[in-house]
Amino acid sequence: MIQQVTVFVPASIANLGCGFDIMGMAIESAGDILSMEMSEGDGIEIINRTDYDIPSTVDDNVMTPSIRAMLAAAGVKCHLKVTLMCKIMPGSGIGSSAASAAGAVVALNHLLGNRFSEKEMVEFAMEGEALSSGGAKHADNVAPAILGGIVLICSYSPFEYIHIPFPDTFCAAIAHPRITVRTSDSRAVLPEDIPLKDAINQWANVGGLVAGFINKDIGLVGRSMRDVVVEKHRKKFIPGFDDLRDKLFAAGAKAFNISGSGPSVFALCDGEEKAKDLCKIMSDHFQSLGITADSLVAHGDNRGARVIF
Ligand code: HSE
Repeated sequence: MIQQVTVFVPASIANLGCGFDIMGMAIESAGDILSMEMSEGDGIEIINRTDYDIPSTVDDNVMTPSIRAMLAAAGVKCHLKVTLMCKIMPGSGIGSSAASAAGAVVALNHLLGNRFSEKEMVEFAMEGEALSSGGAKHADNVAPAILGGIVLICSYSPFEYIHIPFPDTFCAAIAHPRITVRTSDSRAVLPEDIPLKDAINQWANVGGLVAGFINKDIGLVGRSMRDVVVEKHRKKFIPGFDDLRDKLFAAGAKAFNISGSGPSVFALCDGEEKAKDLCKIMSDHFQSLGITADSLVAHGDNRGARVIF
C-alpha cells in the first residue's frame, strides 16, 4: 500500500544579526512544497519538478541524512519517493536547504503516524543542514522552518530552544542579489576566537533582541539586531553593504543584516508599505552595481511547516 503526503515549508532568515547559529525566523511569501510517497521496499528516490538544479545523487541531497536518521530511529524500512514541486532558490540565503530537510522530516513523520516530537524533528533536520554547511549542525533555519515564528536555540547539547511568535506589525524587506555565496565558504572566513569586548557586545544584543521580540518593541529589536562578530567578515561578499545599510536606515529601516550566510540581505521595519519602499532601495542599490536582485516583502510565518494535503 502506498501512503502519500504533501507539505509546505516556509523560508527562513537565520542569525537575525547577532544570533549566529542560534536564532532564526520563518517568513511568509516563500517556501518549498514537496510530496512524499511511502511504499514497501527500501531506498530513497528524489524527483525534481522545480526549475532549479538540485544535487544529482540521493547521497548528496540534504534530505537524505535527515530521512535516514528518522527511519533508523523509528526502526522502519521502506521505499520513499520524494517529489520536489516548489523550491526556494538554492543558494539564496533564505533557508533553501533547511526547507528541504525540514520538509522531508515533517512529511516522513506524518507518514510514520507522528511518532516524533517537534524537537526530535528539528534534530533530524539538522543532519541535512550539516551536509550543506560543511559539517556544522545548526538549527537556526530548520527550527523556525518547522516550528514557525522566531526560534532561539538555548543549547545544542542537550538540544533546547524557545519559540517566540513573530509580532504581526513587524515586516521584513528581503533582497537576493544574484551572486553566489556558498555557506561553506562564508563559514570558512570566520575566526575561531573572538575578542571579549565583541562577545560582551554580542551577548548584550542577543538579550535585547529576544526581549524586543517578546515585548513587540521594534525600536529595541532594531538597536539589538546588530552583529559585531560575524558581519565584518562576511559583508565583503555583498557589494556595497555599508552603503546600502546607510540608505535603508535613512529611509526608516530599524535593522539591516545579512540573511543567514547570504547573499540575501534583509531589513526590518514596522509596516508593509515601508517594507515595499525598502525593497525598492535594495533592488536599485544592486542594480546600480550591475547586479540583478529579487526582492520580497515578508511578514513572519507563525505556523511553520504543515501538511497541505
Ligand atoms: N547560521 C548559519 C550561518 C546559517 O550563518 O552560516 C546558514 O546556514
